[in-house]
This record gives sequence, C-alpha cells and structure tokens, in this order.
Amino acid sequence: MKRNLALGLVIIACGMTRPPVVRTHVTTTNTVIFDREIVRILDAHCVACHAPAALAPPLAAYEEVWLSRDAVLREVLGHGMPPWAAVPGYGEFANDNGLTLRERQFLVSWVEGLGPRNDGAVFLNVRDAGPRPEVVAAEPDFDTWFLGEPDLIVPLPEAVVAPGQRERIERRVVDPGLESERWVRGLEFRPGDRRVVRAATFTVEATGQWLGSWTPWHGFVELPQDVAYRLPAGTRIVAEIRYGTSDERVIDASRLGLFWHGGAGVAEPADLVLEAHGLTAPGGGAVRFASEVRIEEALHALALFPEFEPGVESLEVSVRKPDGGTEVLLFAQDIPEGWPTPYIFAEPVAIESGSALRAIAYHSNDTARARPGGVRLTVSAY
Ligand code: HEC
Repeated sequence: MKRNLALGLVIIACGMTRPPVVRTHVTTTNTVIFDREIVRILDAHCVACHAPAALAPPLAAYEEVWLSRDAVLREVLGHGMPPWAAVPGYGEFANDNGLTLRERQFLVSWVEGLGPRNDGAVFLNVRDAGPRPEVVAAEPDFDTWFLGEPDLIVPLPEAVVAPGQRERIERRVVDPGLESERWVRGLEFRPGDRRVVRAATFTVEATGQWLGSWTPWHGFVELPQDVAYRLPAGTRIVAEIRYGTSDERVIDASRLGLFWHGGAGVAEPADLVLEAHGLTAPGGGAVRFASEVRIEEALHALALFPEFEPGVESLEVSVRKPDGGTEVLLFAQDIPEGWPTPYIFAEPVAIESGSALRAIAYHSNDTARARPGGVRLTVSAY
C-alpha cells in the first residue's frame, strides 16, 4: 500500500517531461519544513484543541498533519480554523489566536511543496534508509499553571458528560471561602478533561461582574500591575462551563486558581455593558443592532466580552472621541458559534471622557421564522 502510493507521488513530483524514475529519496526545494515553521504554527494555534485527549482530532505529529493537509488548507484559508474572529489591524489582543498572513502562506507552501520534513524528505519516504531526523511534533502544555502556583485553588463541582448528551452550559456557584476581603490580580482555569470543556466564564454572584472567560487557547486573566478585582468576604463566584459532546462517559473536575494582590492603592475594574436586542426577519438582509454609551469619566478598557444570539455576522466596537476622531477597538467577522471569546487588550486602551463607546452587530437569519438577534457586550475597564 505505502509502496504504491510512493510511486504515484514520485511520478507527480517529477512531472511528465522526465521519465518517471523512482528514486528512493525525494527532495524538494521548498524551504518551509515541518519541523521548523509548521510545528511552531501548530504549537501556537492548534494543539490547544487538536491533541490527544483534547477537543479535536490531533494535529501534532507530522503524519497527522500531512494526511489532513487538504482539510487544513481549506480551514485556514477559509478562516474556519483556528476559531478567532478579530480582523487584524483593529486592536491588539493578548489572547489573539489568528493566523498571520505569513503563517497561512507557510502552510500553503508546505503542502504545495509536498510537505517536507527537516531533511527535505517527504512523508511517503519516511521509511527510507539513512539517517533519520529526530521526530519533532507539536506539543500541548496542559499541566502548567501559567501564572505560577495559585494562592487559592477552588475545585469546581464535578460534571458528567454522557454519550449522546447535547452540548450544554453548566452553571455552578462556588464559594472560595473568603473570610476577609481579597484583591485578585489574576485567575486561571484548568479544565479537568479537555475532551469536553469548550469554554468557561466566571462572574461574581452578587454583582454579575465579569472576572474572565477561558478558551482552550488562553487559560488565564492577568490584570495590569496596579489593577485588581476586589472580592469582599463571603464572595461567591459563578462558573458557567460549556460542555461539548462525547462518545464516552466523561467526568470533568475542573479547577479555578486565584492569585492575590497586596491591594494597596490599586484600581478596581468595573463592567460597562452595552446591549442591543431585537428580532431578525426571515429571508431579510442583515439586521443591524447598535448600542452606545457616553463615557463621562476617562477610563482604561481591559477586555471586551461579547455574547451573541445565533446568526451574528460581525461586531464592531469603536470609540468616537470628543475631537470627532474614531478608533475601532475590535472588528470581528465570521464569528464562530460555540466559542464564546473574550478579546483581552494587549495593553489597556485609554478612553477619554466625553467619548462615545459604540457596539454594532450585524445578524442574518436564514431560518424560516423571525428570531432574536443582538449582542450583549461587557467592557471590563478601570
Ligand atoms: C479552540 C479549539 C480549536 C483550535 C484552537 C483549532 N481547532 Fe480545528 N477544530 C476544532 C474542533 C472542535 C473541530 C471539530 C472536530 C470534530 O469534528 O469533532 C475542529 C476541526 C478542524 C478540522 C477538520 C474540519 C473538517 O471538516 O474536517 C481541521 C482541518 C482543523 N480543525 C484544523 C485546525 C488547524 C490547522 C488549527 C490551527 C491553525 C486549528 N484547527 C485550531 C477545534 C479547534
């Protein structure tokens, strides 16, 4: 089987102008190689989900990626994968998981160049004699607290995902047992079983304040140095965990790590919420939902967390400044369903007093009925 495939491939590689000589070692002039460029792309953007015992089929080892090459190109060129909707050029995000143009080009050249490994040999010749390169594969890191050992680890109640069960959101209220007020400089979530946990959001029960949202590719919130959330004694935290489906019965026991801040002289983030809701008509064109708030006191935006009704196409978040200029903080397009995503600014974004902060979402409706559309945007700011 392998042998026949190898022959076919060599003929294609040599083209029709030369006799189809079967060489034992096919080399290409492609300079993009799996062990260098491709592994880096997978490590940075894919293996958080495409790994053994994670959400999606592994894309870590050479053979896995080469054999899925058509689907990989279709997904990355069609912007289906990785799930990240922010259009480059508007806002810079600490949890950006988009592929750069250069990364997309690397993937295309690698596939078109017959997917060389580090010595230029192609997949079907991996059994060739001769010195074999060390096996290089992308590797997820699921066993690390990225912010260091938490000051407090809060175990979340176990959840069972049974075969045939549909995707769902579990809402759990947890009591971290705070006997006195605490200031929190960071939060980190560690799923118990990465095969089923797709997303998680944490809020304060008493106030609804957003503390952070986990995605498989970015597991923590780290506030700027002089900023911390204040949790009064007795604070309870609401965890909303989105579970996917599973072929086997899975018990998830996730954990939330909290990191304390000394608390003196720190700024405290608060939420600004922009909401616009309504109905979208079937068959009609895209419907616009817009919401605007006036910023009375200058502030710094830390993160945007949009929640949508199904059918959203795009979201633009912008600031109209008192001098008339406009700054786009986020432009998200082809927003994937099922991946609630925060957009965490790489640096806090200063917004002057007298500005107007605006969110505009477009929804389409391809069902036969009028259905709800709209957006709820949480802006975490201090
Ligand atoms: C946040 C999680 C996540 C990340 C990050 C991610 N994927 Fe996926 N991907 C998925 C899930 C979930 C599926 C659906 C798998 C299934 O069929 O159950 C999928 C499906 C795919 C498919 C198969 C599509 C099909 O129809 O056969 C390809 C190819 C793919 N992803 C490539 C990639 C590549 C390449 C990257 C990185 C550049 C990436 N993905 C990053 C979660 C992710």
